[in-house]
Amino acid sequence: MIDLTTRYLGLTLKHPLIAASSGLTGKLDSIKKLASAGVSAIVLKSLFEEQIAAETGSMTEAFAWDPGAQAWIEAMNKEASASDYLKLIEQSKKETGLPIIASINCSHSGQWQDFAKKVELAGADALELNIGRLPKTIDETSVEIENNIITIVEQVCASTKMPIAVKIGSQFTNPGLLAKRIAQVGAKGLVLFNRFYRLDLNLDTLALTSGPIKSSPELYHESMRWIALLKGQIDVDFAASGGIYDEETVLKMVAAGASVVELCSVLYAKGFTVVGSIIDGLINLLKKHNIASIASLKGRLAAQNAKERDAYYRLQYVKAFVGHE
Ligand SMILES: Cc1cc2nc3c(=O)[nH]c(=O)nc-3n(C[C@H](O)[C@H](O)[C@H](O)COP(=O)(O)O)c2cc1C
Repeated sequence: MIDLTTRYLGLTLKHPLIAASSGLTGKLDSIKKLASAGVSAIVLKSLFEEQIAAETGSMTEAFAWDPGAQAWIEAMNKEASASDYLKLIEQSKKETGLPIIASINCSHSGQWQDFAKKVELAGADALELNIGRLPKTIDETSVEIENNIITIVEQVCASTKMPIAVKIGSQFTNPGLLAKRIAQVGAKGLVLFNRFYRLDLNLDTLALTSGPIKSSPELYHESMRWIALLKGQIDVDFAASGGIYDEETVLKMVAAGASVVELCSVLYAKGFTVVGSIIDGLINLLKKHNIASIASLKGRLAAQNAKERDAYYRLQYVKAFVGHE
C-alpha cells in the first residue's frame, strides 16, 4: 500500500496536491468542486491588504504610492470585502472539511496585519502571505526591500498562533538568504515561487494589456532548484508552485524537498478532474520505482543529499556536463 500522506505547516494531508490561490479558490461553489475533485487542502484567493485597510479605516502605504489603488480597491470591495472573506473561510471549512489556508496579498506593513487574528478566529488552518511588489524607484535598495518583507512577516507571525507560509517571487539576488531571514522571524512555510501578473502591450490600441494567464510546464525548474538548494538548510516546510502539470513533476518536487505542491494553471488548462489523474499517476510511479511513501522520497535529491550537488549551482551552460554539442 503506497502512503501518500505528507505534513505541511503542522497539518497532516492525505497527499501533496493542494489547490493554489487563484480565481478558482475565491468562491464557495468552485472551492467545493475542488474539494470533490480530491485536493488535500485549499489556499484561498488572496485578499489584498488594501481591501482590509479600506474596510477597517486604516491606511496602507500602498494607497500613497499607487494613485490608482483607491479606485480599484473600491471596485474589488463591491465584489467581495474583507468581512466576506472571513465568511468564505468559515463556509469553506464547514462545507469541505479540508484544511483551509487563507491568503493575503501584501507589500507594506501596517494595521492590516491585525486582520491575521480575525482570519485565525474564522477557522483558517494557516495563512499564506503573498508578498511582492516592484521597487518603487531605481534607488530603492535590495536591503530596503527585503527588510520591508521581513518586517511584514515578523509582525504577522507575532499577531497570530496560526502557521504562516510566505510566498515570494524568484527575483532576489540571493533568495536563500531572504528565505533564511523569513524563517528566523517565525514563518513555518515557504512557497516557491509566485508567478506575477504578466504585462503586455497592445499595438492596435497602443495600450497596456495583460499577458498570458496560464504558465507553461517549463516553469517548474526554477522552483525545484531552489527547494533542493534550501532543503535542510532552513527549518521550514516547502510548497512548490509554478509549472506543475503532472505526476512526474510532483515527485521531482518532493524528491527536491517539497512537502506539498500547489496546482494552479493545470486546473485552468485541464479542469479539476486532473487532480484524480495525477493522484493515480503518483501511485503508479511510486510503485514502479519501488518507493513506499511520499515521506521516504522527500528531500532525497536535495542538494545536501545529492551526489552531483555542485550541479545545482551551475547557472551557465557547461557542455561537458550537459552532454550536448
Ligand atoms: C488567474 C490566476 C489568479 C491568481 N491569483 C493569485 C492570488 O490571488 N494569490 C496568489 O498568491 N497567487 C495567485 N496566482 C498565482 C498562483 O497561485 C501560482 O502561484 C502561479 O500561477 C504559478 O503556478 P502555476 O504555474 O501552476 O500557474 C494566480 C494565478 C492565476 C493564473
